[in-house]
Amino acid sequence: MKILAIETTCDETAAAVLGDDLTIFASVVASQEDLHEQYRGVVPEIAARAHVERILPVIHETVQKSGFTLSELDAIAVANTPGLSGSLLVGLTAAKALAFALDKPLVTINHLHAHVYACQLESNRSVFPCVGMIVSGGHTHLYHYSDALNPEYLGGTIDDAAGEAFDKVASMLKLRYPGGPEISKLALHGNPQAHAFPRSFLKEDRLDFSFSGLKTAVRYSITGPGNIDPTSIELTEKQSADIAASFQQAVVDCLVAKAMQAVRKTGLKRLCVGGGVAANRVFRDQLQVACNEQGVTLHIAPLKFCTDNAVMGAIAFERLKAGLVDELDIDILPGLVREKQ
Ligand code: KG4
Ligand code: ZN
Repeated sequence: MKILAIETTCDETAAAVLGDDLTIFASVVASQEDLHEQYRGVVPEIAARAHVERILPVIHETVQKSGFTLSELDAIAVANTPGLSGSLLVGLTAAKALAFALDKPLVTINHLHAHVYACQLESNRSVFPCVGMIVSGGHTHLYHYSDALNPEYLGGTIDDAAGEAFDKVASMLKLRYPGGPEISKLALHGNPQAHAFPRSFLKEDRLDFSFSGLKTAVRYSITGPGNIDPTSIELTEKQSADIAASFQQAVVDCLVAKAMQAVRKTGLKRLCVGGGVAANRVFRDQLQVACNEQGVTLHIAPLKFCTDNAVMGAIAFERLKAGLVDELDIDILPGLVREKQ
């Protein structure tokens, strides 16, 4: 069985042709980073319009690269939740049009659980059951997965997502968007102990995160107290690098601590991590050390499938196997529905 998977939840227009043995026949990602860079964050209106321009060329290129024709594919999969409304609508509408015109089943997928499913792409055995962690620009969540389609929410951020904090701190340090890769590059030259930034809930028995206090602490480390624009302050290269390294270490400490706490609480011995922040080298290394110490098997999404892509849409095969297909009147769900994922 082969499917076309479409991803337009935020600011990447992506498509992939995938086999049910998780063969990747083709994968194309059209990034919009250049469009959002000057705003140091994603502008929803610009994202939606860029998806409109790019969706058909991206699908066309993907199918052509796969060597198949559209009519040879067995289903159309698309992420319809969570994400930016305008962005989601473009992908869902394209997927519906294809499913209708080709008379193929439509399968909608949850973008968050697709991020975790990216861990399955490089594993010969099922990575489920597991604790799943999504660390992306929009979400920082922990789930107990009995299997790929049955996640139970364990906890998550009560304010900013980890990636969002990276992006905001990068903006304060006058770095480019997206901020994560820029901060981690700068942090290589900094001292992670230079600033004692706060780590929320670290000692508490709850699987939640909070990064807004950390963001404020970083801001004051640049400006001092008061309502001063951090970008108006000139820092030396060393000062910026120390802030970047100390900030990154604070985020990593929280992510590693809560992931391990979730593993202990659930009694599961397997941890799967996906999402853009999972590309962070310090996080990957320190989480691996913690998992080794506690005898936990760690699966982190392959680097190229941490940030948004359509290959992780392979989770659609799990839905197809379970006989779960969607009607053509299905809608987008921009917000996260915790009760029923
Ligand atoms: O998963 P993703 O592509 O989009 C969402 O679903 O949100 O994640 C994008 C986020 C951005 O906030 C970006 O700054 C962050 O992932 N990111 C990183 C790294 N690479 C991307 N954060 C920390 N370190 C990185 N190396
Ligand atoms: Zn994502």
